[in-house]
Amino acid sequence: MLDPKAYRDAMSEIASPVHIIATDGPAGLAGMTVTALASVTDQPATLLVCVNRQSPSAPRFLKNKAFSVNSLGAADQKLADIFAGRTDEHFAEKFTHGLWRKGATGAPLLEGALANFDCRLIEAKDVGTHHILIGEVVAVARRDEGAGLLYHRRAYRRSDDEL
Ligand SMILES: Cc1cc2nc3c(=O)[nH]c(=O)nc-3n(C[C@H](O)[C@H](O)[C@H](O)COP(=O)(O)O)c2cc1C
Repeated sequence: MLDPKAYRDAMSEIASPVHIIATDGPAGLAGMTVTALASVTDQPATLLVCVNRQSPSAPRFLKNKAFSVNSLGAADQKLADIFAGRTDEHFAEKFTHGLWRKGATGAPLLEGALANFDCRLIEAKDVGTHHILIGEVVAVARRDEGAGLLYHRRAYRRSDDEL
């Protein structure tokens, strides 16, 4: 088996857009910063996101059966840190930062994100340490201007940065 650190080091070479995924419903509010996201297909519009099973927020995403993806702009680095647990705020406390409105699925949508994807959870698969959450996108919104926030070589960057 490949050394996990060698794998993570190689992955750190890939510049990835930073998103906050968020959920609300019977299991309560939760949100977390992620980069492990991919589009699956546009018919029906479907995406996937990988969530660590150890993450305290993970069960809320599974039980609420809905989530949003909010792609961050370059100015949202502080928000990314808050939703990555780097400021010790949890669950509903995280949502006192940023402007949030409720989407059609009940999931919170971040105002001013580069793009919002409101998703119904249609499938969850476990692979190793992570849940793969597969969402059907029921609504989108987009900003259409400004640089995005990337994570590259373990640091935040702007999508219009020179390296
Ligand atoms: C740039 C960045 C990207 C991250 N990407 C992921 C990811 O794709 N999946 C994941 O499970 N955690 C990811 N994390 C870690 C979670 O944001 C962190 O564990 C968070 O505290 C989880 O929220 P919780 O403590 O409320 O469960 C990432 C963190 C950062 C800073």
